[in-house]
Amino acid sequence: MAAARDPIHGLWSSRWVFILAATGSAVGLGNIWRFPYVTGENGGGAFVLVYLACVALVGVPIMIAEIVLGRRGRRSPINTMSELAREEGLSPAWSGVGWMGVVAGFLILSFYSVVAGWSLAYVFYLGSGTFAAATGEFSQTTFDALIASPGKLLLWHSLFIALTIFVVSRGVTGGLEKAARLLMPALFLMLLLLVGYAASAGDFKGALSYLFEPDFTALSSDAILIALGQAFFSLSLGMGSIMVYGSYLPSDASIPSTAVTIAIADTMVAVLAGLAIFPIVLGYGLEPGAGPGLVFISLTVAFGQMPGGQFFGTVFFLLLSVAALTSAISLLEPVAAWLVESKRFTRRNACLVAGAGAWLLGIGSLLSFNLWSEVTLSERHFFGWMELISTTILLPLGGLLIAIFAGWRLRHSSSLEEFQQQRPAHLVWVTLTRFVAPVGVAIIFFEALS
Ligand code: TRP
Repeated sequence: MAAARDPIHGLWSSRWVFILAATGSAVGLGNIWRFPYVTGENGGGAFVLVYLACVALVGVPIMIAEIVLGRRGRRSPINTMSELAREEGLSPAWSGVGWMGVVAGFLILSFYSVVAGWSLAYVFYLGSGTFAAATGEFSQTTFDALIASPGKLLLWHSLFIALTIFVVSRGVTGGLEKAARLLMPALFLMLLLLVGYAASAGDFKGALSYLFEPDFTALSSDAILIALGQAFFSLSLGMGSIMVYGSYLPSDASIPSTAVTIAIADTMVAVLAGLAIFPIVLGYGLEPGAGPGLVFISLTVAFGQMPGGQFFGTVFFLLLSVAALTSAISLLEPVAAWLVESKRFTRRNACLVAGAGAWLLGIGSLLSFNLWSEVTLSERHFFGWMELISTTILLPLGGLLIAIFAGWRLRHSSSLEEFQQQRPAHLVWVTLTRFVAPVGVAIIFFEALS
């Protein structure tokens, strides 16, 4: 084996811990907050179908590519890319992929933390019985009041970033395991319960046809690009989160089956979230295209009506906050690992500096819901721009470059080694990574820009 480079930030104790950590990274606000709201804004069925195709044909091969590169490089994404480029005799400019990822990660963490702050706030709202017998109108007003208050948003945003810094500064191969092992299955069960309630109390049939009966005439090329970006966002791809986690993966773990497991778990959570939310949205006459507040407005109606809703609602937002935390740490880890490796920072200082940067940028996002709501460029406020640049543009672009590097530039013998010489699986992956994924991403980009 040539991949004898020593890991410097520790290793996962087994393949299962990696699966837990990577699923923890993948499952988060992307599945429960973002997937339903962008689905609602883009008309449902056809969008969902394109999303699922993007996950299977682009997401899974690129996830495998990130793990392969990470495990071979055994460094932060920036250094992994430059090491591998050197080893394969390629241009050092490939480390730019790592740099792009750092930028995307910063931008995402900054607004991610603001939304995670809403979830934290809702733990307390639900816990104190705010939503007892709530109507759609009440839920809407409560959400509007929260985002209208810069002070409250700043408090929750700061708390969430502080938690993220705290966990990452202790090292992600450590304490994370326990949280993920227990709380992820709990979140899954909670979603099942909500789907059950939504099926009995909401318009379940309507939701099924809304989500799964595609009407392609309603699908714009912009919507296809948004679906692609959402696939990257939800699977944590395109900026180095999975690559850095892959760099801590033991050498004997099988990569393809691991990636497929993570993608299936992530997709199931997103679909369950859709099935919990849309029956309520349709049954109670809420607006599917309500935007970023959709989950908070729809689910609190359900919690207000269902028996035990105060308890279940509190637990749900607590679990959602934890899911957001296990995702946020994977956004901070690539930069933190790089500062430790290359700039001789202690882990704690690396996390503090990088976290403070994201916190500052996040203030722009939280103000765009209140004081800066009129400050727009091409009808998009600060938060909208952050989402667009990072998720819809930088992630697919990063993914495209990762696919080109892993599929076309890395020697076959190298990637085959990471596949432990499993030739059939390697052949399928190479085909998808060389042709399907990059061509798909390029076409979708080109269509949306033209
Ligand atoms: N995937 C996470 C979610 O769905 C968010 C996330 C973590 C992410 N790491 C990422 C998104 C890297 C894009 C890139 O909530």
